[in-house]
Amino acid sequence: MSNEIRKILVTSALPYANGPIHIGHLVEYIQTDIWVRFQKQRGHTCHYVCADDAHGTPIMLRAQQEGITPEQLIADTWTQHNADFQDFNIGFDNFYTTHSDETRDFAELIYNRLHEKQHIHSKTITQAYDPVKEMFLPDRFIKGECPKCGAADQYGDNCEVCSATYSPTDLINPVSAVSGERPIDKESEHFFFKLGEFETMLKDWTQSGHLQEQVSNKLNEWFEVGLQDWDISRDAPYFGFEIPNAPGKFFYVWLDAPVGYMGSFKNLCDQNGLAFDEYWGKDSNTELYHFIGKDIVYFHALFWPAMLTGAGFRTPTAIFSHGFLTVNGEKMSKSRGTFIKARTYLEHLNPEYLRYYFAAKLSNRVEDIDLNFEDFSQRVNTDLVNKVVNIASRCSGFIKKRFNNELSATCSEPELFQSFVEENHTIAELYESREYGKAMRAISALADKANQYIDEKQPWVIAKQDNCDAELHDICSVGINLFYVIASYLKPVVPTMVAKAETFINAGEFAWPDGLSPLTAHTINKFKPLMARVDADKLSALIEASKENLLSTPTAAKSPATKKIEKVANTIEFDDFANIDLRVALIEKAEHVEEADKLLRLTLSLGDESRQVLAGLKSAYTPEQLEGRLTVMVANLKPRKMRFGVSEGMVLAAGPGGDELWILSPDNGAKPGMRIK
Ligand code: MSP
Ligand code: ZN
Repeated sequence: MSNEIRKILVTSALPYANGPIHIGHLVEYIQTDIWVRFQKQRGHTCHYVCADDAHGTPIMLRAQQEGITPEQLIADTWTQHNADFQDFNIGFDNFYTTHSDETRDFAELIYNRLHEKQHIHSKTITQAYDPVKEMFLPDRFIKGECPKCGAADQYGDNCEVCSATYSPTDLINPVSAVSGERPIDKESEHFFFKLGEFETMLKDWTQSGHLQEQVSNKLNEWFEVGLQDWDISRDAPYFGFEIPNAPGKFFYVWLDAPVGYMGSFKNLCDQNGLAFDEYWGKDSNTELYHFIGKDIVYFHALFWPAMLTGAGFRTPTAIFSHGFLTVNGEKMSKSRGTFIKARTYLEHLNPEYLRYYFAAKLSNRVEDIDLNFEDFSQRVNTDLVNKVVNIASRCSGFIKKRFNNELSATCSEPELFQSFVEENHTIAELYESREYGKAMRAISALADKANQYIDEKQPWVIAKQDNCDAELHDICSVGINLFYVIASYLKPVVPTMVAKAETFINAGEFAWPDGLSPLTAHTINKFKPLMARVDADKLSALIEASKENLLSTPTAAKSPATKKIEKVANTIEFDDFANIDLRVALIEKAEHVEEADKLLRLTLSLGDESRQVLAGLKSAYTPEQLEGRLTVMVANLKPRKMRFGVSEGMVLAAGPGGDELWILSPDNGAKPGMRIK
């Protein structure tokens, strides 16, 4: 790599301001932060900005629910997010908010320029409207029965039970999740961004090295479907920026969200005297990178480069997209205690464990990564504490006791030391290309080599021999120097641990060790433990505490209807009820359905016959929690062929869905097969 100093601007996606940071988010912020720290350690100029994504209907409604203004809600959330990021060592150069003058100015500027060039047109469309709440309803605020499988309480865009996708107008018996009222159709004028006019530009841009291969392939599929106009306006009431010359019309949150990258950077420029245009101007030759999750590729790889081009700004150098976090092989779940908030984690464990663990698991592909708690403890304890920290602790005792903390005057193993330093090229390439897992393995191999050297030389044996002081001094000094190189490589990942190592080594901040010489005749400081092992009890306590959170969390952001009691349905005749054959059923067996996100396969016994039912309970129960329980089922429901097999009936459950779903249990004494009347 050349020695030229690069100028780089890096962003992570802006977290929504209506919920806490959780360990899923942290995959992204840790991944980005490691990359930024690496660039800075290499001596490049690198700015890392982010902000809270503060606009939109969910934030407006959440504030109403809590009886505060949206401004108050986003200010409180900002404070919490900011503290979480700081405590996880996410070193933003600026963490701002999209609800800022800078973001408003750029959003207006971009809109006005697109408007002038006629990339925006308006059209009257019909949408679901809540007549009680007097507002248009986004898809996820409409609930009803799935038009495909009939499952109750499904959101307006897709069914959690059968995975069908549809539009909210297809729902059977739709209700507004805000008021419980049936939505009506209402017309309104909307503004659209004509994405199709950028097709040539986008086809070229997305296929010319700015995206990961998996992502550009995905985009090709989207091009085949055709680029639709993008609806960028929302009607009042809405928490956001009003559109210029269009009273009562607001920018859709996703219009100003990426503009928040510019807003945050502008705010940084104003503090530091940086030149905004050098990074965003049309002819900029600086580098611009967006780190994002796979769920928001469409916005970043299509809308955003088109908007930037249309408004006369530069496009990103690259977009780096990552997969999602699963915990113990499953989606994070509140009931299982695996929906772990950043703050709850911090109350129990060292944040650098998670930083190291994610690094060890991350690659540059768009793959989901799994947090497995056993693997977590093992990797941190074995690879980091036992291997790396151990090198320093094995050697420092002798250096202190026998040599007054001073290293030998010459390095007795120049070639060995040199071989460690030479690895810097390989490791740098791995960091640069976001192959952190491979980088951690390369570093771990060096730690093995250093430990092997110490094992072979057996300083603890030599220490007991006469006249071997010089040899003992040399061995331990080599050990400390090898540790110095290894710790330098780990600095982007575990900065707090390495800061302690810097104090110990006493040679200033660790730069990237390209061309590093061994420390000789140099005084080090007293060794203090750099990192403790993962405490299994604290890990269990973290999972327990995350379970408790469920009980104390009022309304989950994604289920706005939790607090509302659904309106009672229309009156029916007794015969309508009598037609439904409800039975007590024993859950004999419960198992996961491969590839199904929401379903469990239940074998239900009705005494003398058993039924197979595919139930959308996975988000709330583990199979173990269900097996052996009695519950209530609809026994005469017509068998239904679903994607994963035939379902012969339905289990009754209450709750809005997700984690908040509770199956019914009969009282003691009821036997499988008994009819409920
Ligand atoms: N506000 C939008 C982003 C706007 S960017 C101009 C948003 N916010 S988010 O809070 O839902 O997510 C923020 C980032 O965290 C996204 O990149 C998202 O993909 C990532 N993650 C959220 N949950 C995640 C996991 N469970 N696993 C990995 N990344 C996750 O989207
Ligand atoms: Zn369905």
